[in-house]
Amino acid sequence: MTRAFYDAFSTALQASWELSALVSLLAGVASHHLIFRPFEIDGYAWQILFIFLGSVFIFVTAYIQLAGYGVMLALCRVSLIATAYSSGAAISIFMYRAFFHPLNRFPGPFLAKISRFYAMNNAAKNIKAFEDIRSLHKKYGDIVRVGPRELSINRPSAISVIYEPPTRTTRSPWYAQVSNDVTKISLNSTRVLKVHKLRKKVWERGLSFRALAVYAPRIQAKVDLLLSKLANHCGRPIDMTEYAMFFGFDVMGDIGFSKDFHMLELESEHLAIKGVHESMLAIGVLGTVPWLLSMISKVPGAAASFSRFTTWCHRELQKKREIVASEAAALKDQDPRDIISWLLKALNEGDPSAPPGEIAIQEDARLLIIAGSDTTSAALSNARGFSGSITSPAIRKAISVFKRRLKKNSLEA
Ligand code: HEM
Repeated sequence: MTRAFYDAFSTALQASWELSALVSLLAGVASHHLIFRPFEIDGYAWQILFIFLGSVFIFVTAYIQLAGYGVMLALCRVSLIATAYSSGAAISIFMYRAFFHPLNRFPGPFLAKISRFYAMNNAAKNIKAFEDIRSLHKKYGDIVRVGPRELSINRPSAISVIYEPPTRTTRSPWYAQVSNDVTKISLNSTRVLKVHKLRKKVWERGLSFRALAVYAPRIQAKVDLLLSKLANHCGRPIDMTEYAMFFGFDVMGDIGFSKDFHMLELESEHLAIKGVHESMLAIGVLGTVPWLLSMISKVPGAAASFSRFTTWCHRELQKKREIVASEAAALKDQDPRDIISWLLKALNEGDPSAPPGEIAIQEDARLLIIAGSDTTSAALSNARGFSGSITSPAIRKAISVFKRRLKKNSLEA
């Protein structure tokens, strides 16, 4: 069998260059239909690249050793084969996406059908992908094909179809950038519906009304601090986006980990959070081509800024573990004081909804801070009356009414 394969391979190497190119071209087409199309290969970009380079090396060696070619001739022959193979795969992908793909019946820019690099190019030009999407909807309607395998849907009735049980939709490959292994990802990256549903339960406990009542006085303290900072700026313009960001992260540090970033107090960004924001541009632009972001993020040192944040979360998680262990007996009958303690409690009690592994809880720790902070601060800074300057008497009045109401009703209401 091995001998037969060896003989067949040696004979194939002796084929004319035209035949080698043709067979390679067809192999490229076949790879598209038999591997790239039926399987989700987005997370395996490095492996695919290494297999490709490994094959190039094997073929060069085989041409030299088995077919008796010189080095230059072997390199030329393998370049021809590699180019023919890549062209076959590329042409097949192009034709399929442009003319035969099931999403073809939805409108959208032609280049968006062909590649996600179209979206990346737009995102890199404007750095406001949401505006690109909005203008596409204006031009093409409620449903737009924004990528070879993606639709953007701007129709409220679609929400229940997509999200409500018994939905058959799951999260896109974008969510698999870290991994597809459910023991190594956060709740938000979990694409397996059953696992997601289970993991959500402990988060629901950590964000229940009962839990919120425990967090409320600390949130109130941060609201008071924010308002006093705003009041200090009376008569002078203030960068509300920045203060809303300080507020969002301070609150999440507190209710997430019982940890204060002190950003509002010091009126400056914590180093770990700076790391998150420094990475946002790259994540926003590269994230339009998920396999590329996943590939680049695996290069050592490429995510240096973001790793300041991951290091912070990891350290705080470890400290929290020690605190939870040392206080376990004393606080036996009390609810956890922060969200991460709810997750640790579930983990320690062997609750099935706990993060399913060490890496999963680390990922959840990061999710916790980011999900609750940038979202809240963006909403806050965009809220009418808060953006821009607070010099106007009407806005000052609105703030004091807001403050009075908060005091009166408190957040438990
Ligand atoms: C105005 C404020 C907020 C907005 C606009 C917002 C928006 C969203 C959206 C759109 C998602 C879905 C993301 C996705 O599937 O990719 C999400 C998920 C999530 N959010 Fe928020 N959020 C806000 C505040 C918060 C807060 C305060 C917390 C925590 C205390 C939080 C925790 C989470 C978590 C844990 C998830 C993941 C849920 C899952 O994967 O099932 N969010 N949020």
